[in-house]
Amino acid sequence: MPDTRRSRSVAQTFVTDLLDGQLEQWLTEDGRAGASVVDIGGGTGGLAVPLAARGHMITVVDPSPDALAALQRRAAEADLTDYITGIQGDTSDLVDLFGPGSVDVVLCHRVLEYLPDPGQALTDIAAVLSSQGALSLLVAQRHPVVLSQAVSGDFALARRTWADERLLDRARVVDLLTGAGWVVQAVHGIGAVSEHVPERHLEGPDRFTELLALEHEISQDPTFASLAPWVHVFATRG
Ligand SMILES: C[S@@+](CC[C@H](N)C(=O)[O-])C[C@H]1O[C@@H](n2cnc3c(N)ncnc32)[C@H](O)[C@@H]1O
Repeated sequence: MPDTRRSRSVAQTFVTDLLDGQLEQWLTEDGRAGASVVDIGGGTGGLAVPLAARGHMITVVDPSPDALAALQRRAAEADLTDYITGIQGDTSDLVDLFGPGSVDVVLCHRVLEYLPDPGQALTDIAAVLSSQGALSLLVAQRHPVVLSQAVSGDFALARRTWADERLLDRARVVDLLTGAGWVVQAVHGIGAVSEHVPERHLEGPDRFTELLALEHEISQDPTFASLAPWVHVFATRG
């Protein structure tokens, strides 16, 4: 299968590596050979394609027909159409599409923060998961987003972002999940350092690998995790 690694950012590669490891561990502990994986809001396959390249079977559910068309093209280009299926729908359609308690793993990356009711979306996801099912959640963090918008010169946008109290961060996501009965297994900050490193610093042997290793090493440090543009949470139902 094609190596999609170097065409992706350090942060994207780190999330894929992290999740691949968490899925392997979850499968081993559960004594399973494979799992049904649904990527809700999976869009054009930014996560589904590299995960499928590692052998996972992924169903992407997304309301956007354009995104699903792009997903099919990317899957075909990567020779992964046997591993990736696209279905039009949103979080509220999950039970109708798959049936209650029928899915092993739901991926919800960079979607929850755009929804009017994240708590309801988590309820919809919980309803479709099996009793031992797992959730991989990636959300943008409010403080680092405000900082990067201001640093890029868009102060008005940064002020609007700061005023939007729906935006999540590490503490709020963990509270939301634990309050709804999820068991949080791991929390990692994503991109705390690598998202600030200019592309030119990655030219040269081992530079990408070195920065990826640093990204991994700092990802569970609470200070770096609170500065990271995204937070990743791996949670289970039981
Ligand atoms: C920022 S993109 C993230 C795509 C992908 N998850 C990733 O991380 O690369 C947000 C995606 O959420 C989808 N979306 C918007 N509203 C949704 C909803 N109510 N339920 C599920 N997906 C939704 C959009 O169509 C879009 O593809």
